Amino acid sequence: MAAKLHTSILVYSMCPILLIGPNLVAFCTAQVQSFVYSGFKGADITLDGVAVVRSDGLLELTRIADVRGYAFHRDPLRFRRSPNGTVQSFSVSFVFGVQSDIDVSVDGMTFFIAPGNKFSNTFSGAYLGLFNDSTNGSPNNHIFAVELDTFGNGEFKDMDSNHVGIDVNSLFSVQAQAAGFYDDMTGTFTNLTLNSGEPMQLWVEYDAQTTQVISTLARLGATKPRRPLFTTTTNLSDVLENPSYVGFSGSTGSLSTIYCVLGWSFGMDGPAPAINITNLPKLLRGHRKARSKVLEIVLPIATAMFIAVVGIVIVLLMRRRLRYAELREDWEVEFGPHRFSYKDLYHATEGFKDHHLLGAGGFGKVYKGVLPKSKMEVAVKKVSHESRQGMKEFITEVVSIGRLRHRYLVQLLGYCRRKDELILVYEYMPNGSLDKYLHCEEDKPTLDWTQRFGIIKGIACGLLYLHEKWEKIVIHRDIKASNVLLDGEMNGRLGDFGLARLYDHGTDLQTTHVVGTMGYLAPELLRSGKASPLTDVFAFGTFLLEVACGQRPIKQDSKDKQIMLVDWVLEHWNNGTLMQTMDTRLQGDFDKDEASMLLKLGLLCLHPLPTARPSMKQVMEYLDGEAALPELTPTHFNNLNMVSMMERGGFRPSILSYPDLTASIGTFSGLSGGR
Ligand SMILES: *[C@@H]1O[C@H](CO)[C@@H](O)[C@H](O)[C@H]1NC(C)=O
Ligand SMILES: *[C@@H]1O[C@H](CO)[C@@H](O)[C@H](O)[C@H]1NC(C)=O
Ligand SMILES: *[C@@H]1O[C@H](CO)[C@@H](O)[C@H](O)[C@H]1NC(C)=O
Ligand SMILES: *[C@@H]1O[C@H](CO)[C@@H](O)[C@H](O)[C@H]1NC(C)=O
Repeated sequence: MAAKLHTSILVYSMCPILLIGPNLVAFCTAQVQSFVYSGFKGADITLDGVAVVRSDGLLELTRIADVRGYAFHRDPLRFRRSPNGTVQSFSVSFVFGVQSDIDVSVDGMTFFIAPGNKFSNTFSGAYLGLFNDSTNGSPNNHIFAVELDTFGNGEFKDMDSNHVGIDVNSLFSVQAQAAGFYDDMTGTFTNLTLNSGEPMQLWVEYDAQTTQVISTLARLGATKPRRPLFTTTTNLSDVLENPSYVGFSGSTGSLSTIYCVLGWSFGMDGPAPAINITNLPKLLRGHRKARSKVLEIVLPIATAMFIAVVGIVIVLLMRRRLRYAELREDWEVEFGPHRFSYKDLYHATEGFKDHHLLGAGGFGKVYKGVLPKSKMEVAVKKVSHESRQGMKEFITEVVSIGRLRHRYLVQLLGYCRRKDELILVYEYMPNGSLDKYLHCEEDKPTLDWTQRFGIIKGIACGLLYLHEKWEKIVIHRDIKASNVLLDGEMNGRLGDFGLARLYDHGTDLQTTHVVGTMGYLAPELLRSGKASPLTDVFAFGTFLLEVACGQRPIKQDSKDKQIMLVDWVLEHWNNGTLMQTMDTRLQGDFDKDEASMLLKLGLLCLHPLPTARPSMKQVMEYLDGEAALPELTPTHFNNLNMVSMMERGGFRPSILSYPDLTASIGTFSGLSGGR
């Protein structure tokens, strides 16, 4: 009867004499007892079988298959006030949970009132740990039980596998009802699944007056429904011994089901105290059924999907890394602002798609692109290279060239470097290259004289800037019509300067590596391989004649023989028919003086002797009319036939049989084409 005050309350309301002395206990005829446990830590209970109280206070009646577990209030309770009296009213309430690994859990648990606290001869399984084959149904059992049955047992005429039953001395329930509750508002019945793993609360009240047993079930936390689950009439005065033990039994058959009790309260001849549900231990494993589904079905799928997703992400990241991989070295740090990310260039050209291709030449392919962030139109030139040697000097030069800004130069915006690729980013020139207009490709309109003269002056101006106006001398090395690009206003702008240097650096010194385009190469360049501003002037002279005459630097003569344009113009000058060399598409609509000056200037620039050529500064003065062209006669050039000069330079034009006649010589061929 002694119980710890914090978990149980013993009220001796009708027995004041007890307090006077032990000898008077016999006279004490009435005891009203109640207790309440929210969790069973330190509770006055005794355990039997496999039952345990977990450290958090949860009472587990069963643990493994085919065993029984019991928990009792340690001291028996007096249900009758006098030995021959009737059984008093009482109330019991408890919170329980059934965790089952499978849908079908076997057997069940009970709250029972029994004369003894030993159940050694009982059976587990169907007998719920209370009876055995021979004792089931015997009035000598003196056992009252409320069963929470999760196994429909035909032997005992169980109604289903999910019911609450009132048992008296037998597992043939006096009455049973499917687990559930009636809604207070609507009165509708809602099923509850006992082995859902969800905690529930059961109230069982015995009314001595009416001998009714009232059972009410609800989800934990819900208020006790007003309409009970069911009411059974059974006179417990014919059943219970005095005193009797109160407790729980749990039994599992062959499969593992854990019957748990979280809290318990009891009131003799009065209501059972309320269980403080906030202090209850938790059913740690929660809804085992749901959990097992998660574990068995969802989790493996989720894991597999997760692994697959991670794998795909890694592959994509790797591909992305490879796709956008760049070559970056320490010395490039200072060129940061001029360095483009490959990713941006890749996106700008939609992955270097063919429909972005502007042109292709010996140096590489040129694509049109739109930079993702600035939406700026650019020309992206991919130059393949293998030599890493000299790359630093080259990039240094590219970057310094990038600092060059001139109205008649195509602005180099920056670069990017990959393993075998150098990528140069230029301003985009909407009207393409000049050669397309001169040689009537792609149905381009014919340029009139003013336009041609303007373009020539522009290029001369740009070249002068490269040669003299900048902090160091920059030799273009590849002046030709196809390297002159036309901007939106049809201004000629010089592109691709300095690129030829890439092939100067790092190449084998044993091989000839003259870079340029046939017809534009000065004789001394062929001999020595050494470029100078005057070799640029030579190429400019060819360019001049090309624009004025609308002819390629190496043309076919009437006998289908290849001749140099310069020799052809010279011949006409000799014959006094210089004006006949002018482009017939101009239809004579040009300034004769300007044309004559231009042709003669072209010839002067093409002088086989470098020292006889004017500098770009002089060229500019002649073009601007600030200085008069020196008096020249064709005899100046006599005996200086270009072909013979070239042949002396070790080069035979007869081997030039490339279709566009602009093939270059040296280690790199086909350097013509787009910028
Ligand atoms: C109780 O009943 C027994 C017999 O059943 C009888 O001997 C006893 O005197 C009764 N006691 C009281 C207090 O009525
Ligand atoms: C059943 O229980 C009773 C009482 O404990 C015992 O005497 C009897 O031997 C048991 N019967 C079986 C079949 O175990
Ligand atoms: C409740 O469960 C019983 C037995 O499983 C079933 O017959 C009944 O239809 C269910 N009622 C509701 C409302 O789900
Ligand atoms: C219950 O049983 C006891 C003893 O058998 C009897 O005295 C009492 O009148 C019964 N109560 C009711 C309500 O039938």
